[in-house]
Amino acid sequence: MTSLNSDIISAHLRTKSIGRSLEFFPEIDSTNSYAKQHLNTHGAVVLADYQFAGRGRQGRSWVSPKGQSILMSVVLKPEKGHPSLQIITLAAAVVIIDVLKGTLGIRAQVKWPNDILIHGKKVCGILTESALQGDQMHKIIIGIGCNVYQTSNQFPGYLKYPVTSLSLETETPVDRHLIIAEILNQLEIMYDSLIAGERAAIIDRWRQHCFHLGKPVRVIQGENVVVGNCMNINEEGALIVEDARGKIIPVSSGEIHLEQFV
Ligand code: BTN
Repeated sequence: MTSLNSDIISAHLRTKSIGRSLEFFPEIDSTNSYAKQHLNTHGAVVLADYQFAGRGRQGRSWVSPKGQSILMSVVLKPEKGHPSLQIITLAAAVVIIDVLKGTLGIRAQVKWPNDILIHGKKVCGILTESALQGDQMHKIIIGIGCNVYQTSNQFPGYLKYPVTSLSLETETPVDRHLIIAEILNQLEIMYDSLIAGERAAIIDRWRQHCFHLGKPVRVIQGENVVVGNCMNINEEGALIVEDARGKIIPVSSGEIHLEQFV
């Protein structure tokens, strides 16, 4: 295992702002928490080799052994008319899938809203958060956690879903620096097109990568459970589910399970 080197990442960047300020910590509580508290420049990035309080969606923790993952947060500071967190999360998922294909030839898919899967196993998660100043959106933080070098016995035993790492899925040697730089390069292009109003095209790309379009799903929303066929995703990034009675239900939050895994 080699530690990350931010100079190598910078050498591969083709961006104007994303990743131009890049901080690396061998160890940190959580890159998202650090970005929330300390980073205020559009495009600033923080990376770590280990998080002792890594955070996942829905209050869960994100655990990964030292030096085995990509753990990074990117700060976006929209000037005005910012895209919704939902759309930014979907856009980030599309970027990661494109980068895995482009750099490693891996075909990954997305499980709504933000789990990146390879052969149905989770390899990467995205935690998008916002920070307010008064009632104004001050910044958006995209946190990316991607399993890279883990062997199958290095995942926490309590996880209720199948997991994998990039190294387990490809014969190609995986260089975290290149993947990180490419994610940042593509993220800037994606963000610029979102700001330019090209939301529909991004949603369309997300649909093409979706793991469960047309499949039976169960969406858990706290006490509420929606069961039906996943029909589509709408322009706001909500999942469209049709239940057994033919009722169309838009779902904008919750945890989705494929019926075959329930
Ligand atoms: C999920 O639950 O699927 C989202 C996981 C997101 C984890 C990443 S790791 C880098 C960043 N810092 C955190 O504390 N969380 C995100």
